[in-house]
Amino acid sequence: MIGTATKSSASANVRSAAAADILPTYKRAPMRFVRGSGVELFDESGKSYLDLSSGIAVNALGYGDSGIRETIENVLSTGLIHVSNLYRTEAGEKLAHFLVETSFASSVFFCNSGAEANEGAFKFARRWGRAVGTDAKTGIVALRGGFHGRLFASLAATDRPSYRAPFRPLAGGVMICERDQVELDVALDGESIAAVIVEPVQGEGGVRVIETELLKYLRKVTEERGIALIFDEIQCGLGRLGTFHAYERFGIVPDMVTMAKPLAGGLPMGAILVAKPIAETIKPGDHGTTFGGGPLVAAVADHVVHRLADPALLATVRENGVWLGEQLADIARRSGKIRAVRGLGYMWGIDVVEPAADVVARGWDAGLLVITAGEHTLRLLPPLVIERSDLQRGMTILEKILG
Ligand SMILES: Cc1ncc(COP(=O)(O)O)c(C=O)c1O
Repeated sequence: MIGTATKSSASANVRSAAAADILPTYKRAPMRFVRGSGVELFDESGKSYLDLSSGIAVNALGYGDSGIRETIENVLSTGLIHVSNLYRTEAGEKLAHFLVETSFASSVFFCNSGAEANEGAFKFARRWGRAVGTDAKTGIVALRGGFHGRLFASLAATDRPSYRAPFRPLAGGVMICERDQVELDVALDGESIAAVIVEPVQGEGGVRVIETELLKYLRKVTEERGIALIFDEIQCGLGRLGTFHAYERFGIVPDMVTMAKPLAGGLPMGAILVAKPIAETIKPGDHGTTFGGGPLVAAVADHVVHRLADPALLATVRENGVWLGEQLADIARRSGKIRAVRGLGYMWGIDVVEPAADVVARGWDAGLLVITAGEHTLRLLPPLVIERSDLQRGMTILEKILG
């Protein structure tokens, strides 16, 4: 019985129960969380954990945000959790209007996850490619080190051999190219390529900030050759880099942006921002989703995006982001256990000498949640509402667990 077992055997029981009933696609941590408040989670024993991972970049507003709760209660009082995309809703239209007003896009498509957003963006790119070119203009180019999701086309664009190999054949017409101007120059053929997709900061791939020069080159060459530029901002967007959209941080305007993770405050939601020339080629029936942009998720997302677009919050992320980078560099100098530190805003990667998973596990003991981004990289994705004092507390624990 879990209730009477010792702490370590309770963890073992939890692990075995999860292994028995949930398909083991994730190696889960032993603790079970029962409550969250602000930037902290609490497990069954009442132990608190400072969360510097935000449920993998989802909980930008932390836990227990009163606005999210009020919004959900208001929607529940109308009885409209779902009506289908056959009908209009005020919540969906309000959210779409805000996203269009605050971006380059002329319209938005709502879906349910990041991978779905990328799959949709690939479809829209092909639709548009055929409209402006020939039937041969269908290719999608992705970059070395990128992660775009686990479905067949998004997986084909994802540069992780171990994620891809067991599931071949993946979607055709998707190729991965080096992050290199010479190779991209050859790959980006306007006759056969409809789109190139890039994460401005590669999250799963080790928190790699793509050089602004390469992004500018991509913008220039895609414009010249009539190729759609898609920014996958699923992890790095919506305030995480200190600008509402990640593309603003680099001074580049893409043709489509995919977003998900923090969009609906932890409810599943994705979206695609679509520039006018592409949007004009999309007709009823070209794409669809049963749940995408329903009244509950859209209302919550409307609250979230208004909060995340707040200039004061974004300025704090930029300022604290610089401070975080300095702190991490100091820790690296003192500890000798860090090989490199990279990042921007509230998205940092720390290359460690030992397996990153070992440091993560010591964090659980010490009441700190950080995650990995590859075998030797720790990843920090703090909630965007975190205060400097909590970041400081996190840095103190991190330095301790690095040993
Ligand atoms: C950059 C990026 N793209 C796409 C995805 C896939 O999103 P989802 O897990 O919601 O399908 C992720 C998820 O980690 C991501 O980080």
